[in-house]
Amino acid sequence: MTLTRQQLQQFDREGYLYLPDLFSAEEMGVLRNEAEAIFRTERKEIWREKSGSPRTAFAAHTYSEAFHLLGAHPRLIRPVEQVFGEALYMHQFKINAKSAFDGEVWQWHQDYGTWARDDGMPEPRAMNISVFVDEVLPINGPLMLVPRSHKEGVLKAGHDVSTTSYPLWTLDNATVERLVRQGGIVTPTGKPGSVLMFHGNLVHGSAGNITPYPRKIVYLTLNAVSNYIRTPTRPEWIAHRDFRPIEPVPDGALLDYARACQAAAE
Ligand code: SIN
Ligand code: MN
Repeated sequence: MTLTRQQLQQFDREGYLYLPDLFSAEEMGVLRNEAEAIFRTERKEIWREKSGSPRTAFAAHTYSEAFHLLGAHPRLIRPVEQVFGEALYMHQFKINAKSAFDGEVWQWHQDYGTWARDDGMPEPRAMNISVFVDEVLPINGPLMLVPRSHKEGVLKAGHDVSTTSYPLWTLDNATVERLVRQGGIVTPTGKPGSVLMFHGNLVHGSAGNITPYPRKIVYLTLNAVSNYIRTPTRPEWIAHRDFRPIEPVPDGALLDYARACQAAAE
């Protein structure tokens, strides 16, 4: 899969691209089952909300075959290689649960702010690519993006270590207000299998989820190999040190795996 010139221009101008229904219901079914099984386990890579509900499972591509296949999927890897013009490695991989009733806020932030300050990433040449595992609705805490905010560079931020269980470099209200006056806020919503890619400097956040509908999203952070992190401070399973280029799997690999799981269950 390759992006058109128009899509590349839109990404450059707005800072994000939304690609609905990139994966089928069958492909997403195996990932949803697997995510739910992972969240039922206890391991250091799984962080919980203050309520105890799951918030984030890091590095699932290293211990789950289904997520390994997603993390090397050509429908995700090829478009990002196209944007950066080089091979990629996985800087971070996480499943964000945003659980029914208990999913907490992600404050306004830029991801590259964290990658630069905490991991020593030289340039914003890493891309977040999110895959909707559940349906993302206007009411279950969709990701909110501020279009064109990626043109601002790295904004001043404060390190919030108390609002949620996850430390984050967050932006102040005046900055967010100024950027929203210029660009507005968009909240792409859609079926499982829809994909959203956004620039490392794009300002984003999400509200809590008080609905009965969980909102699981997988985030791959794909970094250009030459832009490997220089001075990491976070654990290896949050900011990976394996800088080898990702070799994409065949396009049908996830579907084959889903069918094999289905056949084994029958
Ligand atoms: C993030 O910005 O890293 C996560 C936001 C979300 O999952 O809502
Ligand atoms: Mn983020």
